[in-house]
Amino acid sequence: MARRPLVAHVVGARPNYMKVAPVYAELERRGRVEQRLIHTGQHYDVIMKDVFFSELPLPRPHVELHIGSGSPGDQTGRALIELERVFLELDPDLVVVAGDVNSTLAGALAAVKVAVAVCHIEAGLRSFEWDLPEEHNRRITDHLSTLLLTHSDEANENLAAEGIPSEDQQVDLVGNTMIDTLLANIDAARALEACRDFGVERQHYVLVTLHRQRLFAEPGLLQRTLHALDVLSSSLPVVFPLHPRTRGALEANGLLADSEILFADPLPYRQFLSLQADAAAVITDSGGVPEETTVLRVPCFTLRDHTDRPVTVRLGTNTVIGQDPAAIESVPSLLNLQRSTQIPPFWDGRAGERAADAVERLLTLVEVPA
Ligand code: UD1
Repeated sequence: MARRPLVAHVVGARPNYMKVAPVYAELERRGRVEQRLIHTGQHYDVIMKDVFFSELPLPRPHVELHIGSGSPGDQTGRALIELERVFLELDPDLVVVAGDVNSTLAGALAAVKVAVAVCHIEAGLRSFEWDLPEEHNRRITDHLSTLLLTHSDEANENLAAEGIPSEDQQVDLVGNTMIDTLLANIDAARALEACRDFGVERQHYVLVTLHRQRLFAEPGLLQRTLHALDVLSSSLPVVFPLHPRTRGALEANGLLADSEILFADPLPYRQFLSLQADAAAVITDSGGVPEETTVLRVPCFTLRDHTDRPVTVRLGTNTVIGQDPAAIESVPSLLNLQRSTQIPPFWDGRAGERAADAVERLLTLVEVPA
């Protein structure tokens, strides 16, 4: 019997799993390809990594690398070396990467170095901030990819402005695979009522996530941000699950003590989704969270100067309030603002199916419609 084509998926950091899972699961269901899941070990703590495999339709990784933390070049470089070795052993027909983390770029670069085609899930996003690692990662990954799966018109426009697709590339607007994962889990998540674990009531708290490097780079910014969140917590409880880097910085600056903020460890996927769904508002510097709040129709305030997801502002519930922490104190007065609550096209729970169609077309497993 002829060998089925082999698809190798590379994941490494927390946001990768929700994006890859629907594509992996749909390809598995159809059974026309063999699949391998490779984890680089960029995120390695149980709460940043292992918990997600029990909640999502992903197998335990077939290959686990242990690249761990390091400077961006060091981390990306070690992932590149290890992934090249793995690809030479596995000999895949296609490598799938997602998002914009260091493991994404390493996976794409390692694949093209050994002449394997790359599929990029969530291609075409740009914040036009060339000092951010995510911007290098996604931009270079797009230029290395053969199949670019996008989630919004803006992404296609960004790619077109950079001359993509070139002759040997293909761009497919398939929608948002992370929203497939959200829709598959939302009922179970709501049933958890995770806000009760924090002693807060539905619609009567603000959920916060902050972990970007920029918050720690500018002197005093972290302190001022915490102060503003403390002020906010005197009118609305603030629940703040801490990324390990954020916890480390807060501890180093003695900012965890004497605060009314309800701090927590990073949370499993469904618990975090439950907290988002029931929040009065979310304050974040994440790129993915405003997509989720858009579908949940929860007001979201992005504590950055730019967003790489303008569709969440144009159609969804996201407001970009800038990096200045003073803006946090105005959040209560912004809660009742009229905002659009449309769901972007193709954020409908079927992006994984369309992505699987595109992958199968690329591997010529199905007839290409004339
Ligand atoms: C990475 C992504 C970012 C994504 C985020 C989600 C890049 C460039 N950035 O950032 O886009 O939004 O993941 O979480 O890839 N750490 C732990 N335990 C872990 C993982 C990390 O303690 O399991 C610590 C590391 O030691 C390091 C810090 O967190 O000090 C940063 O980790 P790193 O993987 O470099 O990047 P993130 O900030 O997580």
